[in-house]
Amino acid sequence: MENGTTNIHIIGGGNLGVSLAIGISKFSAGSKITVTRRNIQQIKYLENLNIRVSSDNLLEIDKADIIFLTIKPYQVDTVLNEILPHISNKTIVSAVTGLSVDLLEQKTNYLHSIVRIMPSIAAQFGESATCISFSEGSHDASQKVAALFDLLGTALIIEEKLMDAATIMASCGTAYALRYIRAAMQAGIEIGFDSKTALAIASQTVKGAARMTLDEKIHPEQLIDRVTTPKGCTIVGLNEMEHQGFSSSLIKGIKTSFDKIKEI
Ligand SMILES: NC(=O)c1ccc[n+]([C@@H]2O[C@H](COP(=O)([O-])OP(=O)(O)OC[C@H]3O[C@@H](n4cnc5c(N)ncnc54)[C@H](OP(=O)(O)O)[C@@H]3O)[C@@H](O)[C@H]2O)c1
Repeated sequence: MENGTTNIHIIGGGNLGVSLAIGISKFSAGSKITVTRRNIQQIKYLENLNIRVSSDNLLEIDKADIIFLTIKPYQVDTVLNEILPHISNKTIVSAVTGLSVDLLEQKTNYLHSIVRIMPSIAAQFGESATCISFSEGSHDASQKVAALFDLLGTALIIEEKLMDAATIMASCGTAYALRYIRAAMQAGIEIGFDSKTALAIASQTVKGAARMTLDEKIHPEQLIDRVTTPKGCTIVGLNEMEHQGFSSSLIKGIKTSFDKIKEI
């Protein structure tokens, strides 16, 4: 850290890397961010947000306080072979699915603090539920990483054996929630709204429901009780959804994703 500035180097400026870069630039004022990928044309616009982009993974990497790996698993060895000779005693934060803390420590010769994260692209909007694991030797580094992700939503320290489950719940979960919004929007159009208005209502309604469970920390069913009038239209709709397998299909979908991640 120099002059209170945290130098952040994000290797892999794709979907997740860009979301993290924008989120950090918005919510962590003291950060100086560099994002790298081989084809930088698609991320040149980040320069307007004061984020440096480069195709050179080594660009001032020796000055980085935190190095993020937001690349695909099969790209890890190439990137490590390239950067390891040029860095010492860094905090390396990996979002690479399936890459354990133990294996990354081995690959980096136990010379760096290793923190494993599972964020979502909602980090860009300060709304990621980021799960974090680390080994005891990286405790101090992990606290700094957790503090950073608290600014980008919520940071939850979990046992590493739950990382696959976290991937399904927090990362794939974004897609499940979006599919709910799409379905609600389609129904909204059928009952009279134009698509733009239906999307606005469906999205804000999900945001409102999530806000209530987050703020009040109570079981969703207690909040459902507050909006269901006896013999009313909410309860008949809810019960019909359950007759059609709403909760069951969601649970089965999540378990199918979980079975799949273990094969990858
Ligand atoms: N997307 C999500 O919501 C999400 C959430 C949690 C975790 N993850 C994990 O995060 C990782 C990235 O996922 P993603 O969805 O962001 O993938 P992605 O969009 O494919 O991004 C990967 C990026 O890495 C760059 N890259 C490849 N080789 C490189 C190299 N040698 N040096 C520098 N950059 C290189 C690629 O760009 P070039 O080809 O131009 O180099 C690409 O932009 C994966 O392991 C994924 O499982 C993703």
